[in-house]
Amino acid sequence: MPKIHPFFILMLLLTLVTPTVAPAQGQSPDERARATEQQMTDDERFSLIISLVGGVPSIGVPRDKRIPEDVNNMSAGYTPGVPRLGIPALQSSDASMGVTNPGYRPDDKGATAFPASIAVGSSFNPTLARDGGAAIGREARIRGFNIMLAGGINLARDPRNGRNFEYYSEDPYLSAVLGAEAVNGIQGEGVISTLKHYSLNCNETNRHWLDAIIDSAAHRESDLLAFQIAIERSQPGSIMSGYNKVNGEYASGNSYLLNDVLKGAWAYKGYVMSDWGAVPEWDYALKGLDQESGIQMDVKQWGSEAFTDRLRAAYAEGKLPKERLSEMVRRILRSVYAVGVDKWGPPPTVDMAKHNEIALETARQGIVLLKNDGVLPLVTDRPLKIAVIGGYAQLGVPSGTGSGAVLPVGGFASVVKIGGPGTMGALRNLFLFPSSPLAELKKLLPKSTIDFDPGQSPAEAALLAKRSDVVIAFGIRVEGEGFDSADLSLPWGQDPVIDVVATANPNTIVVLETGNPVSMPWRNKVKAIVQAWYPGQAGGQAIAEVLTGSVNPSGRLPITFPGTLAQTPRPKLPGLGTPWGTPTTIRYNEGAEVGYRWFAQKGIQPVFAFGHGLSYTTFSYVDLKVTGGDTITATFTVTNTGKRAGADVPQVYFTDAAGVKRMRLLGFERVALEPGESKSVRVIADPRLLARFDVKAGQWRIAGGAYKVVLAKSADAPVLTAEAQMQSRLFGN
Ligand code: BGC
Repeated sequence: MPKIHPFFILMLLLTLVTPTVAPAQGQSPDERARATEQQMTDDERFSLIISLVGGVPSIGVPRDKRIPEDVNNMSAGYTPGVPRLGIPALQSSDASMGVTNPGYRPDDKGATAFPASIAVGSSFNPTLARDGGAAIGREARIRGFNIMLAGGINLARDPRNGRNFEYYSEDPYLSAVLGAEAVNGIQGEGVISTLKHYSLNCNETNRHWLDAIIDSAAHRESDLLAFQIAIERSQPGSIMSGYNKVNGEYASGNSYLLNDVLKGAWAYKGYVMSDWGAVPEWDYALKGLDQESGIQMDVKQWGSEAFTDRLRAAYAEGKLPKERLSEMVRRILRSVYAVGVDKWGPPPTVDMAKHNEIALETARQGIVLLKNDGVLPLVTDRPLKIAVIGGYAQLGVPSGTGSGAVLPVGGFASVVKIGGPGTMGALRNLFLFPSSPLAELKKLLPKSTIDFDPGQSPAEAALLAKRSDVVIAFGIRVEGEGFDSADLSLPWGQDPVIDVVATANPNTIVVLETGNPVSMPWRNKVKAIVQAWYPGQAGGQAIAEVLTGSVNPSGRLPITFPGTLAQTPRPKLPGLGTPWGTPTTIRYNEGAEVGYRWFAQKGIQPVFAFGHGLSYTTFSYVDLKVTGGDTITATFTVTNTGKRAGADVPQVYFTDAAGVKRMRLLGFERVALEPGESKSVRVIADPRLLARFDVKAGQWRIAGGAYKVVLAKSADAPVLTAEAQMQSRLFGN
């Protein structure tokens, strides 16, 4: 008998004990996950429940030795795969506004920089959210990223929150619908998407030490309802837990939020990943966290990694049950299989011109015309002397800052380092995308004389304003991750400049490029105000098109513009001004009465209401018919009664529930209409919007009786009213 080398015996044995990788036909993602997980070693299991941050050569952040040398596409997260079982490496990148690259990949030529999510919120257009998501998914995929850390749907509870630009709105339903479509777009390309940051990471001040206190029922009716509806509509592969505590427990180790609500009541089947640097303890694994993200960030933040040696020790001591480890792994694998990350064919074709079109269309539909005393659109049939003032409009448009900021193709027009205290200070920059509103205006108004003043001094700006027919003043503000704004003013003396300019020239138009409402002390002096948010890489063009009327503005505010902070639930923001790292408690005492709901409940008039936005045409609403019973269905007809094509966003609210004053957006539809054209619309409310959450029963309860329904142009502009009789009932979970 020939002598067989022991290596071959080992290989033979391995092939006998190692089943083939190919999935059995017709197996569900759950069955596949179960089958694969059973074949894994504990080392493989432990390797799948963490991710590593990539190295950033430009700022000397070293590459972690645990990332194999042949991996060239660094990003926010790397998890080794298990090739013998066909499990791909998991590579995650930010996210919601395009594929980011804060220095991981020096050779990456840049990605499409889409408008801020709050601009998508203003479009009230789920199709655009989906198109943007799909484009981001494709751009992720050609870079080998199979997880996008997208889907930011925290509610905009506070107009100072630095990250509101990364979120869609203050309303749970609107946020859920748009967030879900963004996720559907991404996952439709075979890339897992998160929804984040679960939950109540609604302020940045001391976010790692921030305890968000909220009433449980109110939480279910607001921020959690947004997640619940978005999860149902998009089945995101992963949920990212937030940095903050919720009612005393860190979100990443909050068993109530993760085990009871997300995985229990909602039966969520995907996995929970932490935010980067959000896991101080290994026992978060027992509390519902499935994967520790960017483990080096936990070393920075808390002094050690949680899900490596410490979790292994707990496992060895029997403190982490084997079944829980298996479940963590199964959940990750299930999402890999459900989204098809393991079945990637050749890379998709990426048409960057088409992606730019999507970015442009999103910017157009996201721009909100707040005020117009007849000065807009600008006349184009005779030459004007136009003064463009401030906002670096000669260079481009600003972006929000932080992990979501996208490096566009060809690079930024300019990066102004701003800085600030704390760990996030170094990352705080004014990024300008090279889409100059000044240049775009010159293109669209070739007969006009357009001069630029930087807006650095009120006196200097007034000189140009005085000798112009029209002034277009830009107001910008850098908002971003790690910082809440101290107040609602524009920085760098821009408010006084706009004020002086408006005095010098009554035909002043202000264009705001901010991530939040600002106070606009000059608002009664100017003729028009345009809210352009952070409009992305084609933003300058979209702004110029709206100002000159080739695009009819159709955006609607997804967030209430208060007059002062005194009108908001928290005139003083807890922790503001304390050193980064100060334990801070924030009480969201407004509960579910966020934004317009708060203003309605308190009878306060905001400056510009949720849902507000003007057009260059007019719309009428007739024939509102409402039925009740289990839920509210409203039908009505919208007509474009003006002379230009345009799009409207009729909104259905209820304002009174069986004698109790309460306001909720029940539904909306974006309707594009030619002059004279009509369309009938039907809105069927998600019954949870009509209900209160009964914590004891763990179910939704609708109080029977008469509900007042309004068809409105905005939260404070009802047009038609009707009444629906609701049956009392307890349902869902
Ligand atoms: C942010 C997340 C982001 C992560 C990875 C964190 O700082 O809060 O939204 O996905 O970094 O870059």
